[in-house]
Amino acid sequence: MSQRKMLLIDTDTAGDDCTALLLAACWPGVELKAVTTVAGNVPLSLGTRNALTTLEIAERPDVPVYPGAVKPLMRELFTAEHIHGSDGMGGSNFPEPSLQPQDEHAAQAIVRLINEYPGEIEMIAQAPLTNLALAYSLDPSIVGKLKRLWVMGGANNYIGNDSPAAEFNFFVDPEAANIVVHAGFNLTMMGWDVCHRSPVMAEEHFREIEAMNTAFASFYMKVLRTGMELGLKRTGQRRLSHPDTLTVAMAIDNRIMSRSGRYYIDVEYKSELTRGYSLVDMNGVLKKPPNAEVCLDADRELFREMVFTLLQQH
Ligand code: RIB
Ligand code: CA
Repeated sequence: MSQRKMLLIDTDTAGDDCTALLLAACWPGVELKAVTTVAGNVPLSLGTRNALTTLEIAERPDVPVYPGAVKPLMRELFTAEHIHGSDGMGGSNFPEPSLQPQDEHAAQAIVRLINEYPGEIEMIAQAPLTNLALAYSLDPSIVGKLKRLWVMGGANNYIGNDSPAAEFNFFVDPEAANIVVHAGFNLTMMGWDVCHRSPVMAEEHFREIEAMNTAFASFYMKVLRTGMELGLKRTGQRRLSHPDTLTVAMAIDNRIMSRSGRYYIDVEYKSELTRGYSLVDMNGVLKKPPNAEVCLDADRELFREMVFTLLQQH
């Protein structure tokens, strides 16, 4: 890919979020303008620290990190240390990063950057959508100025992860997810179903990565350790779904989204039972105009090629 991509990433940095950031920070032809952080997988302060650690490992001290919302719009925070480890980095206890976060609030930084680069930025929202819903409330005109919004969130009529009915990012802040999907962004939804139907990385891939013996490969194995162990406990094999890294990879190389379609999508926020459930009207029953491109499948081979190239590089 030789085309330059200007990316902005909103993240609740833990586990897979870290490898997604590493990819965006190091892939040739990508200009990572900024990282914004939000409470989700881990509390905001820890997610911000993990983003700074990742950028330090990536040797990208020039990428600014803007901390944002400490909690969802209307609800208490639900975190996922059980998936990512107590530090969100597989329990690896990395030393305190020397990089510092910016003072500007993430929502304001999102508004400012999109206005500074109208039609140029693609944003990847790989966390609860609190910051983006706040940014939209501050300045609804960003909808027409953001080139493309990639949302890792929701699931296409599929089982959830932290709730039987919903994917984690939509579950944590369903009100924010509802606001964002109806705002009118040029939105692509990369749902949990795409990476969960069959594992994106499995035992044979981890063996290859372990054998690389590079700093990035060792970082990968450390930050994803808790997730891998969970896979081992549940299925007898180490495996990972990689939702965030897969979304960043698709934004960088659109061929990785091997199948997609335009549909009307919606997010449930009133019911407690199905809180955060994402509806994709695949049969057009509701007769509403499509508001999203929905990823239906991924080219896993191409994705793994990209991740292997990244991990071999340093
Ligand atoms: O449901 C997948 C999402 O929640 C990802 O963004 C990942 O960070 C996970 O915890
Ligand atoms: Ca995430």
